Amino acid sequence: MAKRHMFRQFLTLLLCATSIFASDVNPDVLDACPGYKATNVKSGPNGISANLVLSGKACNVFGEDIAKLSLNVVYETADRIHVKISDPSASRYEVPESVLPRPDDQHPVAAQSANIQFNFTASPFGFSVYRTKTREVLFSTAGHPIIFEPQYLRLKTQLGKDANIYGLGEHSNPFRLPPDNTTLTLWSRDAYGIPSGTNLYGNHPIYFEHRVTGTHGVLFLNSNGMDIKLRTDTTVPTLEYNVIGGVLDFYFLAGSETDPTAVARQYAEIVGTPAEVPYWSFGLHQCRFGYRNFVDIANVISRYAAAEIPLETMWTDIDYMDRRRVFTVDPNYFPMERMRDIVDYLHSHNQRYVLMTDPAVAYLPAGGYAPYDHGKALDVWLKAPNGSESLGLVWPGVTVFPDWFHPDIQQYWSGEFQSFYNPQTGVDIDGAWIDMNEPSNFCIYPCADPFEQAVEMDFPPPRPNRPPDPNTPIFVNMTTLIRRNGEDDLLATPYSVQPTSRNSVALRRQDANDSLLNPPYAINNAQGALSSRTAFTNIRHANGLLEYDTHNLYGTMMSVATRNAMLARRPGKRTLVITRSTFPGAGAHVGKWLGDNFSDWEHYRNSIAGMLGFASVYQVPMVGSDICGYALNTTETLCARWAMLGAFYPFMRNHNIDNATSQEFYVWPSVTQAAKNGLDMRFRLLDYFYTAFHRAHTDGTPVLNPLFFKYPKDPNTFPIDLQFFFGDSILVSPVTEENATSVQIYLPNDIFYDFLTLSPVRGQARFINLTNVEFTQIPVHIKGGVVLPLRENSTMTTTQLRQTDFELVVAPDLDGNASGELYVDDGESITPPSSTSVSFNFKNGKLTVTGRFGFDVGVGVKRVRFLGVDKTPTKVVMDAKEIGKGDISYDGETKVLDVVVGAEKFDKAFSVEYH
Ligand SMILES: *[C@@H]1O[C@H](CO)[C@@H](O)[C@H](O)[C@H]1NC(C)=O
Ligand SMILES: *[C@@H]1O[C@H](CO)[C@@H](O)[C@H](O)[C@H]1NC(C)=O
Ligand SMILES: *[C@@H]1O[C@H](CO)[C@@H](O)[C@H](O)[C@H]1NC(C)=O
Ligand SMILES: *[C@@H]1O[C@H](CO)[C@@H](O)[C@H](O)[C@H]1NC(C)=O
Ligand SMILES: *[C@@H]1O[C@H](CO)[C@@H](O)[C@H](O)[C@H]1NC(C)=O
Ligand SMILES: *[C@@H]1O[C@H](CO)[C@@H](O)[C@H](O)[C@H]1NC(C)=O
Ligand SMILES: *[C@@H]1O[C@H](CO)[C@@H](O)[C@H](O)[C@H]1NC(C)=O
Repeated sequence: MAKRHMFRQFLTLLLCATSIFASDVNPDVLDACPGYKATNVKSGPNGISANLVLSGKACNVFGEDIAKLSLNVVYETADRIHVKISDPSASRYEVPESVLPRPDDQHPVAAQSANIQFNFTASPFGFSVYRTKTREVLFSTAGHPIIFEPQYLRLKTQLGKDANIYGLGEHSNPFRLPPDNTTLTLWSRDAYGIPSGTNLYGNHPIYFEHRVTGTHGVLFLNSNGMDIKLRTDTTVPTLEYNVIGGVLDFYFLAGSETDPTAVARQYAEIVGTPAEVPYWSFGLHQCRFGYRNFVDIANVISRYAAAEIPLETMWTDIDYMDRRRVFTVDPNYFPMERMRDIVDYLHSHNQRYVLMTDPAVAYLPAGGYAPYDHGKALDVWLKAPNGSESLGLVWPGVTVFPDWFHPDIQQYWSGEFQSFYNPQTGVDIDGAWIDMNEPSNFCIYPCADPFEQAVEMDFPPPRPNRPPDPNTPIFVNMTTLIRRNGEDDLLATPYSVQPTSRNSVALRRQDANDSLLNPPYAINNAQGALSSRTAFTNIRHANGLLEYDTHNLYGTMMSVATRNAMLARRPGKRTLVITRSTFPGAGAHVGKWLGDNFSDWEHYRNSIAGMLGFASVYQVPMVGSDICGYALNTTETLCARWAMLGAFYPFMRNHNIDNATSQEFYVWPSVTQAAKNGLDMRFRLLDYFYTAFHRAHTDGTPVLNPLFFKYPKDPNTFPIDLQFFFGDSILVSPVTEENATSVQIYLPNDIFYDFLTLSPVRGQARFINLTNVEFTQIPVHIKGGVVLPLRENSTMTTTQLRQTDFELVVAPDLDGNASGELYVDDGESITPPSSTSVSFNFKNGKLTVTGRFGFDVGVGVKRVRFLGVDKTPTKVVMDAKEIGKGDISYDGETKVLDVVVGAEKFDKAFSVEYH
């Protein structure tokens, strides 16, 4: 086995040797290319068009320079310029509208009225984009000729000194990208351990650049493999795109001079605002790879209940499948009857269930496996160039992959969901988890014989334990659970594995000269060759597009198909779909988890930057990292800290690998307490966060904010990625070092309030050291200026939470003012029949609550707490009526004025003021 592996590695190296690696390209060679000159320039009121002709001897670095290009510039809105450079003679690949519909370009604006301007020099052709008001240059290709070859495009812009660049993921680098020597490679990859400095699962060629003078954005709309390089080794720092196909298609976003979140909204106008998720999906999710049977699943649910930790949703990884085949349950370990018992139990307790679905379908040409047979009948599998089904190796062994461009693919996918996830006969899931959709393929490149590799790698592996008695009682009380514990570890009795057949498939011959497999410019793919461990790039989809061009779209297309399949199961209801691989636009359909991290402190810390990328830049705000870490054994203190940090992830899920020790929150008393403390804050804040999410769905305003979004003039905030705002006003500052009970946090020049004591903390634009932060505590502050609608107390499920009264917390800013909002609807309809939208305003000691009260929230506002109140008030008045002294209390130490208002129903405007 070892020998074979070595041979394969050698072969891989040999194949790669025909390409030139990114790091080998001398920038001077590229800069010596002739570039283009603009001719036939037509300037209109709303834009410019021109021809670009090669302006000297072709340099042909990675293929032949294309002699003539076309330039098209459109001022699509006052804040958006679309610049496209393409080859007019041949039709080159572009990201299909079917995957990412383009924003409206039919109502362009006059250039003079736009907030940014396109400027160019004709010869050599170069362009810049500058801010209209300040004439500040935001992007400039000056001095760096554009290179446009069949399989290589280069465009390079100058950057300012110490540029603050965010985005260009998916990566696990710092949130603010180091400007020197950073290469970001975009090519979807199954990236176990999510190593920094490598390409990961998704691809988001968008960046926001922040300056004290404003924040702007640049989207490079291209799905081909690319390296984006940030360099400071020349006089002027640069950002360079090196791309292996497609066209140069840029959207420049003006952002704003004062509000960094404006650029996020402008980006949402292109890629869509985030899909609204059900209220319940903000509850706690528990998962692991390695739950061995239905009894394990039931026990976890019981143990969460016994520990009184509010488990909202139970998940199951591939373990439930019969020989790891999608759309099946193992009849012995996870029999359908018992799975249905579990789902019924969960639903009757207002809890939910989610199962994993992978794209790869077991290749079983002999027939009898319906998900394969159905796909075969509709002919929806990816095909090799010779027309045969393209085979890979995934969890079930040899597999085929759905072609998401096939016209019948939705019919196929929805059909499988309808039948397997059928509420009457199947597993009635509430959300879907889609993994491995880069797509991941375990077959070692060049994968000449996936059958042989399946045998070598022992796929699917035998079960390590005997099946449980199918009649084992489940959902028993703790006494019984504890008594039975220990009987769970039954002797290993591997069941017989069907030997995989090696018939019918001609061995694939990988051609080292095939430029679709080995393009002349090799991106810095951490997996080596483009097709290594994924679908082959020489595959042609049903609509004629090549996997070479569309690889980076695979996960997003699966996301859309899965969401549609889920919506068809419960028409009119929102769903939760969590994917691993994403592209711009994915967030309009699904959420995302940050993949297979490690249970270590570095990954705990990096999770914040990763999450900010998706929630604050890429418009995929339903995001979170595996809490307590996926691979490796976690530790009690890491898991405790992570349970609390995770309480401020939009998507809060504990997930673990099959070979690590258990890490459910009930495993250690300290972690149980930490999880309860985190969840208590999360639940009380849930409607505040739901309101933020609704706003994001409406206009793209981010649900999480890096500090600079709120303090754009304070350079100390620009690099911070270990603290963040949950919504607009909740500052989360976790302890970030192992064993530490202190943390240095930055508080900008502003007023804050401790979330638990509610006492004021004056920020001084300095780092301060918080000490004695116990392992069950996380520092959380309210940013002055907000009125928070909190639930009075937390509960065991979000259903119960919605039956809990509100309280209002009025946290004034330095000028003594505050405002806030609350949005409530039924929490599940795509188009809610009614909703309530409330505005809170506080000024001169008076809180005014107004709004539209269309939805019956069913509960009241029980009290109002005014923070930062300097002295006992003489009286408190609600509407025109003085509140009795017994309902008022004032604490001079914390400066909190607590008023019981006891409004029975939150269905009308009111005011509360103190004197
Ligand atoms: C526009 O480009 C020309 C030529 O490079 C340059 O001279 C001019 O300063 C630019 N204008 C602005 C406002 O940047
Ligand atoms: C740039 O980064 C690469 C990859 O991390 C590293 O190998 C190289 O030494 C770095 N170069 C410089 C000049 O720092
Ligand atoms: C727990 O279950 C056992 C066995 O079914 C039963 O004997 C016992 O009374 C139950 N205890 C409680 C507290 O319900
Ligand atoms: C995790 O803990 C188990 C049980 O103690 C041990 O067998 C295993 O080797 C540990 N794994 C790692 C990666 O340390
Ligand atoms: C656990 O599984 C991972 C992923 O398959 C593997 O890399 C690692 O070596 C395993 N660790 C142990 C302790 O078996
Ligand atoms: C944290 O404490 C544990 C237990 O005392 C110890 O094993 C570990 O080395 C410590 N870690 C660090 C980074 O000091
Ligand atoms: C904070 O203070 C504690 C206690 O004085 C000290 O041990 C710790 O090193 C300090 N931490 C930082 C990050 O400055």
